[in-house]
Amino acid sequence: MSEPASKRLYIKTYGCQMNVYDSERMADVLRPLGYAVSDQPEGADLVVLNTCHIREAAAEKVYTELGRIRVMREEKQAAGDGRMGVVVAGCVAQAEGDEIIKRAPVVDLVVGPQAYHQLPELIAKVTRARGERLAADFAPDEKFDALPVERHVSGPTAFLTVQEGCDKFCTFCVVPYTRGAEFSRPVESVLAEARGLAAKGVREVTLLGQNVNAYDGAEASGDRGSLAKLVRALAKIDGLDRIRFTTSHPNDMGEDLIAAFGELNALMPYLHLPVQAGSNKILRAMNRKHTAESYLAVIEKIRAARPDIAIAGDMIVGFPGETEKDFEDTLELVRAVDYASCFSFKYSRRPGTPAAAMPNQVPDEVAVERLARLNALLDQQREAFNASMVGRTLPVLFERPGRHPGQAVGRSPYLQGVHVDAAEQLIGQIVPVRIEVAGKNSLTGALAAREAA
Ligand code: SAH
Ligand code: SF4
Ligand code: F3S
Repeated sequence: MSEPASKRLYIKTYGCQMNVYDSERMADVLRPLGYAVSDQPEGADLVVLNTCHIREAAAEKVYTELGRIRVMREEKQAAGDGRMGVVVAGCVAQAEGDEIIKRAPVVDLVVGPQAYHQLPELIAKVTRARGERLAADFAPDEKFDALPVERHVSGPTAFLTVQEGCDKFCTFCVVPYTRGAEFSRPVESVLAEARGLAAKGVREVTLLGQNVNAYDGAEASGDRGSLAKLVRALAKIDGLDRIRFTTSHPNDMGEDLIAAFGELNALMPYLHLPVQAGSNKILRAMNRKHTAESYLAVIEKIRAARPDIAIAGDMIVGFPGETEKDFEDTLELVRAVDYASCFSFKYSRRPGTPAAAMPNQVPDEVAVERLARLNALLDQQREAFNASMVGRTLPVLFERPGRHPGQAVGRSPYLQGVHVDAAEQLIGQIVPVRIEVAGKNSLTGALAAREAA
C-alpha cells in the first residue's frame, strides 16, 4: 500500500530523453514513500537534479543550479519548514561524483543512472549520513528488474527505455563512461511495460537507447532478439498505434529494421540517424567506423523502403583537426541528405575522452563561425520540409492543450508539432488535420473533418 502523498519531490531533468525516462521512473520509485511530484523547487522536501555530462556547458549548469538550491534550502530551514534533501543523479553524478561532493556541500547524495531502484534505501540512509556517494556500479539488469512495474502516465505518449549504454567509443563522447556497456532489456519485460502503458491510454511509445538499433534483448525462447522483431511485436499490442525509436547508429541499421519502415503502419516515418561529420578523415578520427558514403548508402536504402521518411541527424563542428575543407564536406553531406531536422553542436572537449588529448584543437571562434554556417543550411532544410506539408492532410496525435484557449498541440507522423484550434477535446486521439501554415519549428492546421463539413 502506498502512503498518502505528503512530501514534495522536485526533479529537474537535463540532457537526453533517457534522462526524461529515468526521472519518471525515479518518481515512480519514490511515490510509494509519500512523495508527490511538484513543478516548483521552492519548499520541496526532496530535490533531484538528473544531470547530463555530454558537453561542458551541460555539466556546468549543475553547479549553478546547486547554488540556487542551497539558498532555497536555507530559506526552507529558516521558515521552520524542515529539511530539503538534495540528490544529484544522472551522468554528471556518474562521471564526477566525488567532485560534486567536494564542490557542493549542499548535496546529500550522488547516485549514478544504474541505481535508481535503490533510491528509497539511499534516501533513508541520507537522512542519517550526509555527503554520501553511492552505487556507482553498472548493473542495468538489476535496475530494470527492480523498478516498479506500475508506471504513472501523463498523456498519450511515453518513452520506454529498451537499451542502455554504448560500446562504440566515439572519441569525443562520454556516454560509454557514464552509462557503461550496452545492455538490452529482455523482450518480455519491454512488452509487459508497453502493454501496461497501452492499458493506461498511451497510444505512442518511443523506444529509447543510446544505440537503440543495437537492441538484442533475450526472447522468451532464450534467443537474442532484435529491434526489428521487437517493433513488430509492439505493433501487435492493441491501442499502441504509433511506435518510434531513438537514437540509432548507422552501422546497426539492419535490413530487417529498414524493411519494417515500409511494412508497419505503426512505425512512424521518422528516423534519427546521427552521422556527426561529412569528412572521412574526421569520421575516422572520431572512431565512427563508417564513412560519409556508407551513411548515404544507408539513407538511400531507408528511403527506398519508405520514400516519405523524415531523416534527422546530429552534427559536430570543430572536432580536433577539422579544416575548412573537412567542414565543407559536412555541408556537402547535409545537402546530400536533406534533413527534416538536425541537431548541431560545437565540439566540446570532454575530460578523459581520446579526442580531448588530440592535437590541432579548433579555435573557438572558428567553430562558432562554422556552426552558424551549418545552422543556416539546416534551418533552410527544416523550413522547406515543414513547408512541404502545407495543403496536406496528416494524422495528428493530440498530446496537450496549446497556449490559446481551446487549442491543442499534437504531432504529425514526422514528429512535427501541430497546433490546431478548437481541438482540446481531442487530446489522446489521432485525427486528420489539414496543414495550413508552416512555421520554422511547427505547423498549424484545421481539423480536416470540420473543414469538409
Ligand atoms: N548515441 C547517440 C547520441 C549520443 S549523444 C548517437 O550515437 O548517435 C547526442 C549527441 O551529442 C551526439 O550525437 C553528438 O552529436 C553530440 N555530442 C556528443 N559528445 C559531444 C561532444 N563532446 N561535443 C559536442 N557534441 C557532442
Ligand atoms: Fe556516444 Fe558514439 Fe556511443 Fe553515440 S555511438 S553514445 S556518440 S560513443
Ligand atoms: Fe547526457 Fe547522459 Fe544523456 S551525458 S545526453 S544524459 S546519456
